[in-house]
Amino acid sequence: MTDFNYRPTMNVGGDGALYIGGMKAADLAREYGTPLYVFDEDQIRLMMRTYKGAIERHYGNGLPLYASKAFSCLSMYSIAKSEGLGVDVVSGGELFTAKKAGFPMKNVFFHGNSKTDEELKMAVDFRVGYVVVDSAEEAKILNDFAKEKGRVQNILVRVNPGVEAHTHKYVQTATNGSKFGFPIWDGRALGFTKEILGFKNLRICGYHCHIGSQIFEKQSFVVAAQKMVEFFASVKKECGFTPAVMNLGGGFGIFYEGDDPKMKPEDYDGFVAAISDAVTTGCKSARLKKPRLVIEPGRSIVGEAGITLYTVNTIKNASEDVRYVAVDGGMGDNPRYALYESRYTVLAAEKADAPATRKVTIAGKCCESGDMIAADVYLPDVERGDILAVLSTGAYNYSMASNYNRNVIPGAILVSGGKADVIIKKQTLSDLTRGDVIPQRIKNK
Ligand code: LLP
Repeated sequence: MTDFNYRPTMNVGGDGALYIGGMKAADLAREYGTPLYVFDEDQIRLMMRTYKGAIERHYGNGLPLYASKAFSCLSMYSIAKSEGLGVDVVSGGELFTAKKAGFPMKNVFFHGNSKTDEELKMAVDFRVGYVVVDSAEEAKILNDFAKEKGRVQNILVRVNPGVEAHTHKYVQTATNGSKFGFPIWDGRALGFTKEILGFKNLRICGYHCHIGSQIFEKQSFVVAAQKMVEFFASVKKECGFTPAVMNLGGGFGIFYEGDDPKMKPEDYDGFVAAISDAVTTGCKSARLKKPRLVIEPGRSIVGEAGITLYTVNTIKNASEDVRYVAVDGGMGDNPRYALYESRYTVLAAEKADAPATRKVTIAGKCCESGDMIAADVYLPDVERGDILAVLSTGAYNYSMASNYNRNVIPGAILVSGGKADVIIKKQTLSDLTRGDVIPQRIKNK
């Protein structure tokens, strides 16, 4: 039987089937069709509460944000709002969705290394709490828009603390040469701060950094926090003000498979405790007023809460030791194997307790050899029509989905206490051609 990170709201029942949110996964698959994203509302809320409680207990003046790039839809902003979190957004699209969900704009942090003029205008128009500025051009344009509206826009500046976190190189963000942020080690972050102070319609409230994603090492976060405190002290000394906000980003790892740590809420509480302690201690010794502490977890809030259900289509022995189980989804709904060779736990949803003796690779249906969901996983024998559950797909799956091969993007349901609700409708075939136009001159030929 395949092991995973059991929790009260996701486990294997006496009938050997996988249950999530009090519902049998295979029943959900049959009722709503596959592929299907399923989200466990209680787990999402539990994680949000964990971060909120942890920051209050260990630090005091702080706010966790939900990094909505992990999974953005109206319901997620509603849940974050009801749990009293802020959110970070990284595009006009995420900002629009947050606004449409009625999310309080004052608790929105708008990130991005390449924001468009339209996005910056939208930020000012919507009165977002903080724009996280990542370039000189952006600062100037934002200042102009704010001036036009007769407003002063709160900003944070994204800095690069130069911390090499142990994670996939595509998701490391604070290394030398990163496209994100102003380096703090060579004076560029301080120099930019001095420039910003000359902009009358921008109010610099603090700084943001994010070292990467899927990180388990507490020490990486602690080092980043320490470097930020040192940097805050140099801002006070060189620029004559004490930054009020320190946003340390997200990046806490989750369980995907095998030897990954089986993270529990108390482990995330431990991350927050370590970060809080580093900031508190650092500020004390640097004689700095403690800033408001902001963190931005995304994956750890929604990643394990989500699973994807597929139906098995074809099974093929490609060679003596490669057996493909091909499903009705693929890189369109989960591009993470194609991008990062990500690994997952896969279960046969109705035989989750059966000995998993067969080594297989779960292949997608797209016309591309690299279109896999999970390589070399163990399953019991399965056949066409069986339902597979791929675990820990709540973060960066739907949000990176595409219509490659003109497959429709699956819908998502939210489950809790034996109830299921659609939160994203499955696309229809007509959604696929909705934006298509045939120019007259082609029609006429
Ligand atoms: N804050 C900032 C500025 C970020 O760039 C990110 C993630 C987060 C917060 C949230 O990090 P988290 O807690 O989710 O690790 N597509 C990749 C992940 C990219 C992460 C991008 N930034 C994946 O599928 O693994």
